[in-house]
Amino acid sequence: MEYINIYHGVRMCGIIGYTGKKNARSIIIPALKRLEYRGYDSAGIAVINDEIQLYKMKGELEHLERILPKLEGNIGIGHTRWATHGQPIKKNAHPFLDCKKKTALVHNGIIENYMELKEELMKEGHVFTSETDTEVLVHLIEKYYKGNLEDAVRKALKDVQGSYAIVVIHLGNKKEIVAARNESPLILGVGDDENFVASDIPAILEHTDKVIYMMNREIATLTEDNIKITTLDGKEITREWERVDWSLEDAEKGGYEHFMLKEIFEQPSAIHRTLLGRILDMDETNFLKIHFDSIKIIACGTSYHAGLIGKYLFERIAKVPTTAEMSSEYRHSSPSFENPLVILISQSGETADTLGAAREAKHRGYRTIAVTNVVGSSITREVDEVIYTRAGPEIGVAATKSFITQLVALYIIAINLGLAKKTLTYDNAKHIKEGLRSLPRYAQSVLDNADMIKEVAKNICHAKDIFFIGRNIGFPTALEGALKLKEISYIHAEGYPAGELKHGPLALLTKETPVIAIAVKDHTYQKMLSNIGEVAARGSPTIAVGYESDEDLRKYVDSVIYVPTIENLFAPIPISIALQLLAYYVAKERNCPIDKPRNLAKSVTVE
Ligand code: AGP
Ligand code: GLU
Repeated sequence: MEYINIYHGVRMCGIIGYTGKKNARSIIIPALKRLEYRGYDSAGIAVINDEIQLYKMKGELEHLERILPKLEGNIGIGHTRWATHGQPIKKNAHPFLDCKKKTALVHNGIIENYMELKEELMKEGHVFTSETDTEVLVHLIEKYYKGNLEDAVRKALKDVQGSYAIVVIHLGNKKEIVAARNESPLILGVGDDENFVASDIPAILEHTDKVIYMMNREIATLTEDNIKITTLDGKEITREWERVDWSLEDAEKGGYEHFMLKEIFEQPSAIHRTLLGRILDMDETNFLKIHFDSIKIIACGTSYHAGLIGKYLFERIAKVPTTAEMSSEYRHSSPSFENPLVILISQSGETADTLGAAREAKHRGYRTIAVTNVVGSSITREVDEVIYTRAGPEIGVAATKSFITQLVALYIIAINLGLAKKTLTYDNAKHIKEGLRSLPRYAQSVLDNADMIKEVAKNICHAKDIFFIGRNIGFPTALEGALKLKEISYIHAEGYPAGELKHGPLALLTKETPVIAIAVKDHTYQKMLSNIGEVAARGSPTIAVGYESDEDLRKYVDSVIYVPTIENLFAPIPISIALQLLAYYVAKERNCPIDKPRNLAKSVTVE
């Protein structure tokens, strides 16, 4: 039976290629380790010696390492897969070979017209060994190969529709790698007597910090001492390398048990970086000079939750009507008569749904801004303006510091928006800026109380279902709390507006269903206390998240997670950090693979 991933999406698998003087295996395996967060359904390696030596295994990289012999050879490619077409089993693992076993190829993306290509190629006598969409590529290259791999790749790519980053080697030239990209990320690493190609920078940073970003519909031909880039149509491109200004250590665990925990603890400094140079000097505001009636924020997952919070901020601070929509829904919506400024939020800048939404927004004639964490990511080339969150590399699949820094960026945009629209006075703007400046301190004080949250986690870690409730800006905060918990602990969790419980979900509550209520002392506080009462009356264990100055809160609930008392406008920051820690400790109690939850990967590069 054909297996198509239910997400309809490539997350990203990780690909790597090496040509140089060193042992290729010793470069490729550690690089794959760093790429594993992109997918871990299978791993594979092909190295050229006299012939192509190919090894692949189902599951995580360590399974491959266990069976992998010493391999001689100074040129090779590697892959770690997140399956889209074809089950996550050994025969579908990359790299793939052609019929004559002369070409080896790895791929990230989806070949949309693979079915018809496969039928044709089979008629021509090619024998397929997998269920993947990818395999057509290697047979097409075989078909077109007349002694020049680059030409063959170029011809093959003319036949395919879809997204790809590919890396190919051929026995005909034992020094040369050919790589190409369209819609899936690929970078080139420039070394001394060696060159690299990889899905992202951490994979090669140990060897070089000189990087060339490949663009869509480009082909790169690499030998150990040369890199040539051309367009699919054969036009030669000159592009200088850029130096990467962050270190490998930034991308490593730094003593923490998991990347997620490290990234949670980095939040005070990440917030600081987001704010740097943007409080006194608010120059990134060109986009506010144009005419627009409203704002539409578009994003997926956690970034969408940041967008929902952004809606409250923009409406409260700048009085500009704002909607937040999921990218996958926006793309197929009908254009309306409004004239919005569109803000796309994406940590990775590679999420296919969000890239598609950016194109759609542009097509509709709107001005677009991206809020992203990844410099040079695909979304930066799709939009009119970019605001970087500067959170640093985020490796854990669960978004943490990227989310908090997205919120900080949205506060900054809201202030600028209010000033530009004259809906915010200079004094109020100054006051909010002062609040922003103190956020790293508040974030730190949540982290200092991590042990208290650990205790609460122990009490709820055996639950099957958990509800998170909030009101107003606390509602999207609850949604994010629930998403974090479900993705890493596998406990079914839902975020709900507290006032909606009585319209249905209350029926689900039992003594076994903990309810986590965001109860800060804002204009919704009294109503929230009533909602907590409704829940307690059904016997559900109740946990409140509230301000440390709110002594009385403990009277209404079974336990309280206290966060520092902060101006209500900023409450989502400390509360979200507390809920990240809660999700982390629950998942740890349950022995879950926190950085690599099942079925997920860091970025989703197809729709
Ligand atoms: C969050 O923890 C996720 N794993 C996921 O929802 C993520 O936020 C979403 O896929 C969007 O990614 P992006 O920000 O890179 O576009
Ligand atoms: N579509 C290919 C496969 O299913 C590549 C997947 C990926 O990019 O992770 O094997």
